[in-house]
Amino acid sequence: MDHFSYQTGILHAEDVALSDVAEAVGTPCYVYSSATLRRHARVFAEALSILPSVHIAFAVKANPNLAVLRLLASEGYGADVVSAGEMDRALKAGIAPEHVVFSGVGKTADELTRALKAGIGQFNLESEEEGVELAEIAAALGLTASAALRVNPDVDAGTHAKISTGMAENKFGVAYDRAAGIYGRLSALPGLKMRGLAVHIGSQLSRLEPLEDAFTKMGELMRAIRAQGDTITHMDLGGGVGVPYKPGDSFPSPQQYAAMIAGVTADWGVTLMFEPGRIIAGNSGVLITRVVRVKEGITAPFVVVDAAMNDLARPALYGAWHDFLAVKPDGGTFTANIVGPICESSDTFAMGRQIDTVKAGDLAVFRTAGAYGATMANTYNSRALVPEVMVEGDKWAVVAKRIDPATILAAEDVPEWLK
Ligand code: LLP
Repeated sequence: MDHFSYQTGILHAEDVALSDVAEAVGTPCYVYSSATLRRHARVFAEALSILPSVHIAFAVKANPNLAVLRLLASEGYGADVVSAGEMDRALKAGIAPEHVVFSGVGKTADELTRALKAGIGQFNLESEEEGVELAEIAAALGLTASAALRVNPDVDAGTHAKISTGMAENKFGVAYDRAAGIYGRLSALPGLKMRGLAVHIGSQLSRLEPLEDAFTKMGELMRAIRAQGDTITHMDLGGGVGVPYKPGDSFPSPQQYAAMIAGVTADWGVTLMFEPGRIIAGNSGVLITRVVRVKEGITAPFVVVDAAMNDLARPALYGAWHDFLAVKPDGGTFTANIVGPICESSDTFAMGRQIDTVKAGDLAVFRTAGAYGATMANTYNSRALVPEVMVEGDKWAVVAKRIDPATILAAEDVPEWLK
């Protein structure tokens, strides 16, 4: 459920007409609905409340906007971060350092040091080498790092190959068969307090079975590690539950997810940790765009919009579907290709799709753009960095300004020898 709806023929985010935002801020522009974010955060947390002890850390990568993080902090969410940049955002948003989990396969010594000094709650180690390095840094600082070992369970998540993370060939975590030995060796190091295991097999999962398989394997590993005399008090089950992008798509509900986890983890006796991203933020955002022109095509007309793959990369990267709706539909539909202005064919949002009739100058939105939207934007073709707006009831505010090509150009220089 979300809070985007037509009122008097105009698409609104809560009580704000998207046409008003577009007039004031320009296009393309992301718009987030606070009520939708809050609702998703609450439904997810309430579903998991059937479990005895839970810590939820929003996967900042899905939407790192400061206002979004601030709203989620006010809902009691912690943060799962994968860089010092994300850590700084989470802390600036008011998330307590002990509620921050630091994940990521390539944390640098500098990032580990900064995170230790900030008092980050848990480091999810992706290798034995990283654990040894973290232990050394912590011991030298006179600190102890709480850590979990990320394990690759070699389970096929059944999602797009580029967002699968839990198969043997993926770079994430340590091999399942080696994990108990590594856990034992890391547990013996001064500077490190090993407290659990972490797993995340992929994103946009449409079925619970792969997660259930992975969690069952993690339970067996947990028991083996305890049997060798090491302690486990925390199990981080990652994120990954998908959301519908297309009408008719079906996905497990938070309640079904929680029930599956309650079954698998009944006798674990740990704090369960979660890192949801998309399920919280996905449906809470849209990308507003304006039609530049409608160009005749050979198979179907091309609707050329002013948003492009640099603003919303998912269709180009993963062939992802985002619904396209006119802000002021006239009731008609036609079959068209939706493309951006960038000079490569991957800048295509949809081919041969039945959409609302639009013409040059009309406004439209790409839906379900609140997760992995603005955060993956770039400036390819010397375009601006896309702005972001947050709506709350009838109020709205720009929560990330457009960064103009001129500002980006100002950071560049020509070396002396070329002047
Ligand atoms: N935890 C870890 C360790 C992760 O790597 C991820 C996502 C998450 C949690 C959150 O997963 P979620 O609940 O959002 O599925 N750019 C891609 C998605 C990449 C996901 C990367 N990792 C996309 O646009 O679909």
